[in-house]
Amino acid sequence: MAGRVCPMWVGYIMASPLRRLLQNPGKILGDYIEPGMTVLDVGCAMGFFSLAAARLVGSNGRVVCVDLQSGMIESLKRRAARSGLSERTDPRVCGEHSLEISDLVGQVDFALAFYVVHEVPNVPGLMTEIYAVLKPGGRFFVAEPRGHTSVDEYEATEAAAQKAGFTIIGHPKLRRDRTTVFVKN
Ligand SMILES: C[S@@+](CC[C@H](N)C(=O)[O-])C[C@H]1O[C@@H](n2cnc3c(N)ncnc32)[C@H](O)[C@@H]1O
Repeated sequence: MAGRVCPMWVGYIMASPLRRLLQNPGKILGDYIEPGMTVLDVGCAMGFFSLAAARLVGSNGRVVCVDLQSGMIESLKRRAARSGLSERTDPRVCGEHSLEISDLVGQVDFALAFYVVHEVPNVPGLMTEIYAVLKPGGRFFVAEPRGHTSVDEYEATEAAAQKAGFTIIGHPKLRRDRTTVFVKN
């Protein structure tokens, strides 16, 4: 299932304001994030969703932004600073086989993996790490592009999440994407 990692030039396109014409990050996340929450953005790239999440959590919340590529994280840091959101973001570079977030066990209210899972080599490991950091009742939103992910591959992603302990609670409608919201029981 794992594919090539998103190159930096695609990262710039994905962080472009033009993307908002197709995907409004505040609207997509607004049903899940409340002020004061701790949010985890897995494979955050340059922060298209992280910065929207940082606005939603407010000054008492925080968004942990994790990505494999240091260039993505450096760009996210600059964008957060320009938007006055640095204090609410916690940008981190991780390894290919681990998010390296064991310090967050049981602390996260909401996790997001948007267009990331198809790039990750160890999906069961990813699901286990995310499950561990969520609070009981915490929700996890996965979106994968239909063009990159077959039905079978997406079902394998859902199965890996369920094996880690998650329960499926919804499939938000996003054109072009396969989506699932999971909950930690
Ligand atoms: C297609 S981009 C999506 C970015 C962002 N979620 C968005 O929707 O704008 C995928 C990102 O996942 C990151 N990534 C790929 N494999 C990863 C891994 N094993 N752990 C963490 N991040 C990873 C890539 O570096 C890239 O920035």
